[in-house]
Amino acid sequence: MRATYPSTVVFALLALSLSPLVQAQDIAALTADTRAKAVPVLPKIAGAMKAAVEKDGLDGAVGVCKTKSPELLKEASQATGWPMRRVSLKPRNAETAVPDAWEARHLADFNIRAANGEKPETLEVGEVVAGADGKQTFRYLRALPVIEVCQNCHGDAASLKPAVTARLAAEYPHDKATGYSLGQIRGGLSVKRPL
Ligand code: HEC
Repeated sequence: MRATYPSTVVFALLALSLSPLVQAQDIAALTADTRAKAVPVLPKIAGAMKAAVEKDGLDGAVGVCKTKSPELLKEASQATGWPMRRVSLKPRNAETAVPDAWEARHLADFNIRAANGEKPETLEVGEVVAGADGKQTFRYLRALPVIEVCQNCHGDAASLKPAVTARLAAEYPHDKATGYSLGQIRGGLSVKRPL
């Protein structure tokens, strides 16, 4: 009888690890850990942008945004080992920012959640997603709401400074990222964490 005890325990643990409750706790822990390690890149990007606007003026900062933001994201990816990028339902950079199906679904959901009264700056989602190869990845998306400074380059197209409009047209012929008002969700920080 004694010999069966450990296997019973193992079986119970296995059953427990498959229970939705434990899974929900795991996801909450993964979400918190990913937030803690990935989200600090966002104020770095905002800080670099602010410094660039002060130093180079708005149209100069467009160029800095193009090189500096991906650099900072790359550094954060290398530090954590997790691919990270910024995505949007109305992308400016058509090469890097077009969302995949999971990202698009949750960005649309963020818009609904914000419309239902959730604070845009707190919106996030974490989920375990199985790929076509069966491998599981933890995916995290954090909303990037529009604050005042963003409107210089993402606000109503007619209100942008002519130098900014010209620079954007030259660098981003497929730009869809204007027309935002305060509090709207410009896009998301997307993280893929291999499990
Ligand atoms: C000086 C102009 C400027 C300002 C100010 C600015 N952005 Fe951008 N934004 C850009 C440019 C240029 C890109 C494209 C960067 C690239 O090529 O990767 C961009 C890209 C993005 C992206 C990546 C997705 C995409 O559409 O390519 C997000 C998200 C974003 N901006 C959010 C914001 C937010 C939020 C703010 C305010 C906190 C902000 N931006 C302020 C110029 C600006």
